[in-house]
Amino acid sequence: MKRARDAFAPRLAGREIGTVTSVATGIAKVSGLANVGFEELVKFPGEVLGLAFNVDEDEIGVVLLGDCWLLHAGDEVERTGRVMDVTVGDGLIGRVIDPLGRPLDGKGRVVSSARLPIERPAPAIMDRAPVTVPLQSGLKVVDALIPIGRGQRELILGDRQTGKTAIAVDTIKNQAGQNVVCVYCAIGQRASAVAKAVASLRAQGAMDYTVVVVAEGNDTPGLTYIAPYAATSIAEHFMEAGRDVLIVYDDLTHHARAYRELSLLLRRPPGREAFPGDIFYIHSRLLERATHLSAEKGGGSITALPIIETEAQDISAYIPTNLISITDGQIYLSPSLFELGVLPAVDVAKSVSRVGGDAQRATYRSVAGDLKLAYAQFEELETFARFGATLDPNTRASIEHGRRIRACLKQAEGAPVSMPEQIAVLLALTAKLFDRIPLERMGDAEHAVREAAAQIPAAVRARFDTAKSLDEGDRTSILDLARGALAPFQPKPSDKPAAKKAGTEAKSGPNGAAPREVPAEKKS
Ligand SMILES: Nc1ncnc2c1ncn2[C@@H]1O[C@H](COP(=O)(O)OP(=O)(O)OP(=O)(O)O)[C@@H](O)[C@H]1O
Ligand SMILES: [Mg+2]
Repeated sequence: MKRARDAFAPRLAGREIGTVTSVATGIAKVSGLANVGFEELVKFPGEVLGLAFNVDEDEIGVVLLGDCWLLHAGDEVERTGRVMDVTVGDGLIGRVIDPLGRPLDGKGRVVSSARLPIERPAPAIMDRAPVTVPLQSGLKVVDALIPIGRGQRELILGDRQTGKTAIAVDTIKNQAGQNVVCVYCAIGQRASAVAKAVASLRAQGAMDYTVVVVAEGNDTPGLTYIAPYAATSIAEHFMEAGRDVLIVYDDLTHHARAYRELSLLLRRPPGREAFPGDIFYIHSRLLERATHLSAEKGGGSITALPIIETEAQDISAYIPTNLISITDGQIYLSPSLFELGVLPAVDVAKSVSRVGGDAQRATYRSVAGDLKLAYAQFEELETFARFGATLDPNTRASIEHGRRIRACLKQAEGAPVSMPEQIAVLLALTAKLFDRIPLERMGDAEHAVREAAAQIPAAVRARFDTAKSLDEGDRTSILDLARGALAPFQPKPSDKPAAKKAGTEAKSGPNGAAPREVPAEKKS
């Protein structure tokens, strides 16, 4: 007994306790925690967590990550001495979680032993490698004209309901069998929209390699604010294990809004207009974490597709311009194209990919090379056509060709097109095989070429990935297949060439911009 008493030495552990002085929606003010660090996690009664956000001498402003109505002035607050972290690892794949790692899919606790802080420094410049491997989106217009590479950051922007989420979700679906882990981070979306996206991922089997992180529209602004950082840490864990990751932030407009709400609640001094500098910083430090790591660091990558919503097509507002300058290119979706049924409604003239061209397969580049130029020329010429000007045959041919390009790039939602099929269609398009086919039959004609692509010999397909360019023999054999498939659609020699048809006449676009055709059908 005596020995036991002598051996007992109480272990002293300091606990720093403060007091809540006031609580408001999403935030709390706390006094008495003098040593707390910036972004340190603090604990309130009832396991509510908070982040120390404003660290002043006599009072700290805490962002709440749980329900604020459980808290009262006078409650105890405890320092935890650690920063916010999140569960990471393979156990998350196929799961739907919130930014704190709590399951939202009713499948029980997430099993994983590893954790990573949600805010981590971006990889150093010397640890990065150039973007060289393509990330196929399965969307013809993106893969041909705005190619994305693994490790690239490509912004998707457009007004509300223009198909932004559809492009991102389709890209995730197209990663089946490509050895890419996907993270879909829904920020401030309606619960029904998130449920729809998850259901469509699940229906196509895409949840087998996807993690979904959700901060719903009615979550606290604190939770919404940390969601993309937590999702990025989850992605980084896979990247550091040498894997390729695709992460979608849907959307960062809500993230900026949540941050602004927190700043106002915490009475941070507003700068010019509405915190543009701060918002640049919260987004740049997020997107700098997406990169392609060098071979010494394992060669993994994070490809980021941030989404933002524009208002009234204004891409010069401060959040869009911030993100355009941070990312490596943008895909702009136009509401006027969407209304006309040109889907996906990608405005090719305003979209760009700054590094993806290097990652695009050489064979692909050799067939899609001058497509963007031809398309841009067509958009310009179409304006003249609208005034009923008498056109010389060359101009008329360019316009007809442009209309066929537009028709060929149309694609239904959730219907990815494989690379050989895309190459066959693009090759037939650049060889002008479609030019005499009536516009209203273009959908079927394009489909026929894609079906014919199944007959491309395996040896030729293998060369798509490796060859420097498409050699003459392969080109001729693919074109012969396409010619055969298109034969039933070509007008008979006795018919007049399918020149101008009523209904395909140009119609004025917004602001007198390039007019758009009225397509004969909505889906390709
Ligand atoms: N390629 C397509 N073909 C047919 N329908 C499409 C296509 N792309 C999108 N849609 C439809 O357009 C609608 C809007 O798409 P989506 O929800 O992706 O737009 P969004 O820009 O993300 O909208 P929000 O601003 O509400 O987030 C949906 O009903 C979707 O099914
Ligand atoms: Mg959306």
